[in-house]
Amino acid sequence: MPKAWIRDRKREYYYKKAKEENYRSRATYKLVQSNEKYGFINRNDVVVDLGAAPGGWIQAARKMTGKNGYVLGIDLKPIEPFTQEYVRTIIADFNDPDIVDQILSFLPREADAVISDAAPNITGVWEVDQAKQIDLATKALEIAQCVLHSGGNFFVKLFEGEMFNEFILTVKEVFDTIKIVKPEASRQKSSEMYLLALGLKSKKCKEES
Ligand SMILES: C[S@@+](CC[C@H](N)C(=O)[O-])C[C@H]1O[C@@H](n2cnc3c(N)ncnc32)[C@H](O)[C@@H]1O
Repeated sequence: MPKAWIRDRKREYYYKKAKEENYRSRATYKLVQSNEKYGFINRNDVVVDLGAAPGGWIQAARKMTGKNGYVLGIDLKPIEPFTQEYVRTIIADFNDPDIVDQILSFLPREADAVISDAAPNITGVWEVDQAKQIDLATKALEIAQCVLHSGGNFFVKLFEGEMFNEFILTVKEVFDTIKIVKPEASRQKSSEMYLLALGLKSKKCKEES
């Protein structure tokens, strides 16, 4: 069976499933499957979603956190408003110098989890795209260290490659446990991976270093 056919069937399957279940993106299932396995988002949690448009992960995280949870989504693009309570969104670039203050001003308390599916505009030049993705992940890590409480969790998209291993080593210094996650909903042939980091060792904001 041609691989492209299998890949397209899988994309189609999650696309249809998302439509049927009223999720805004196919990508929703990457978070759902990862959290089913590792449980890094729980009931009553406060979650920050970096690179959140159109909002599929926000919807899924809001379900995971239950009635008393809270989810804040940030994206360059506007996110269509939600009807549920305890969901907020900000239009911002997470490279903005005041992004941590912006995020903290919207949170009811320090976050339990920071998740990021942020992706750059793909140029097609592998080295460039990988470098851009690592920059986003590095920024997400910086933000996570400031807005999470000690013990909090971090889940971030990466492209496998040279810089991937270096980034993992950096994250290992900051969190107790690291896992590489490839959810079923992510194309097996794609270099997309997620890094799950459990248990922030201690909070640290850049200006404090
Ligand atoms: C793959 S989409 C996220 C999909 C989302 N997880 C969902 O399920 O709906 C990646 C998003 O990252 C956002 N993004 C990329 N760079 C960003 C940045 N510097 N600041 C904020 N958002 C960014 C893009 O605008 C894009 O909407």
